[in-house]
Amino acid sequence: MKSVIELKINGDTHEVLVAPNETLLEVLRDRIGLMGTKRGCDLGSCGACTVLINGETALSCIMLAMDAVGKEIQTIEGMEEAGHLHPIQAAFVEKGGLQCGFCTPGMIMTAKAVLDEEEHLTEDILKKKMAGNLCRCTGYKKIVEAVMSVSDKSGEVS
Ligand code: FES
Ligand code: FES
Repeated sequence: MKSVIELKINGDTHEVLVAPNETLLEVLRDRIGLMGTKRGCDLGSCGACTVLINGETALSCIMLAMDAVGKEIQTIEGMEEAGHLHPIQAAFVEKGGLQCGFCTPGMIMTAKAVLDEEEHLTEDILKKKMAGNLCRCTGYKKIVEAVMSVSDKSGEVS
């Protein structure tokens, strides 16, 4: 049976009517209209649907929306501030860390979690932590360069 739940997304509270088996990805895209989070494999294998839940990465295609109640959800739409790209987004643009862009929201959300938790990020650590985010276009080199460039200026990342 469907029920109304409250989800806190990017600082705003949304009331949504959901079925018990609806995933967070379905609710974000199909009910709330936040299309930045991408549906790739829908199986928990590609990372395209990555969001942050209480600051940690979560694959929204395999998480029930109901399990996100009472938690802080952050999507790619919540990264920019007052019309300005977040430094990670700006670095992806500057370093050419995207081509078709389909993997990019998930990459950026994972990068944010990694940068927030790793004080001394190395390329090796980054590659391990981002191994679950797949990209079919870039060959990863420029993605790594983009994230490392933000890490080098970590005092500026919010
Ligand atoms: S769409 Fe969720 S991991 Fe691929
Ligand atoms: S930029 Fe196309 S899949 Fe990564």
